[in-house]
Amino acid sequence: MNPSPARHSRITGTGSHLPPQRVDNAELAERLAADGIETSDAWIVERTGIRARHFVAPGVQTSDIAVQAARHALEAAGRRPEEIDLVVLATSTPDMVFPSTACIVQRKLGIHGGAAFDVQAVCTGFVYALALADSMIRTGLASRALVIGAEVFSRILDFKDRTTCVLFGDGAGAVVLEASDAPGILASELHADGRHVDILCVPGQVAGGAVTGDPFVRMDGQAVFKLAVGVLDSVSRSVLAKAGRSAQSIDWMIPHQANLRIMHSAARRLGVPAERLVVTVDEHGNTSAASIPLALDVAVRGGRIARGQSVLLQGVGGGFTWGAVLLDF
Ligand code: UT7
Repeated sequence: MNPSPARHSRITGTGSHLPPQRVDNAELAERLAADGIETSDAWIVERTGIRARHFVAPGVQTSDIAVQAARHALEAAGRRPEEIDLVVLATSTPDMVFPSTACIVQRKLGIHGGAAFDVQAVCTGFVYALALADSMIRTGLASRALVIGAEVFSRILDFKDRTTCVLFGDGAGAVVLEASDAPGILASELHADGRHVDILCVPGQVAGGAVTGDPFVRMDGQAVFKLAVGVLDSVSRSVLAKAGRSAQSIDWMIPHQANLRIMHSAARRLGVPAERLVVTVDEHGNTSAASIPLALDVAVRGGRIARGQSVLLQGVGGGFTWGAVLLDF
């Protein structure tokens, strides 16, 4: 008897959504100045590479923008919502405490049955979600997944804290991941180190009918910066080794879009030329779990990433969490 061929997963469609309200650095600086907070376009561009970010209108939820991104991904894959049997949604800004935003997205798209759940790994969320969906497909738990990263970070920004509020934005990205005979996802690796919980967190909680504690993003930027550069390098080398590929073979590198300096340093250490970096942080800011699928979709729709090319996704963020996925698109 012939052994059954190995089951793999591959991306069959990408999609994204940015809220229409674009706020550039000058406009944000002007808003902050009204509260006596000083910042400038020059500081933000020099330290981060960010020039603008998008913010949702009041009342718009994470599931709303996730659904928009998911519809674009489904359309690109030529799939209908009812063909999806798994929704994995990465977010740190869910619509509700529970149920999961993935279930709310399921309802809004008209998907019934199959599995749906959220992944909480902050800015590494999409890499975690994609690696999980891939392993669920390979083991036969699912066949056709929607993997989404979506965030309304503006809800948890303290606009009186200039060290964080200039960095983040809102947005959503999605992919359809399907079972296939040929490999798309080649190798993945996920990590966390809870010793660093405090360097990037929103420490508040809902308790006794109110939000107790601090409900805003707090970050030790320099600590995050130093850790990020090292772990992105080691995890990237590790997935490349697992797949038997070299850094020179990478067509495109999509790191989490937090800071242009971190991204350039990660590429330099790995020996990947800057032209192969996909950069959207300048126009999107840091959209946490949405940043990688947003950048992927922008590069696919912009005609840069083509079928068959290899792409290295690298996530890093609160937890401390990090991970990478190497794939052939
Ligand atoms: O998505 C999760 C991953 N997150 C990240 O990857 C973030 C990683 N960290 C970073 O990107 C950088 O550390 C930041 C962009 C957050 C900060 O850049 P930095 O070069 O590390 O600046 P710093 O924290 O050392 O601050 C330098 C100066 C300080 O003033 P003094 O003490 O030198 O007088 C800050 O008070 O810049 C000041 N500063 C600002 N000035 C104008 C901090 N924020 C601002 C601001 N505008 N928005």
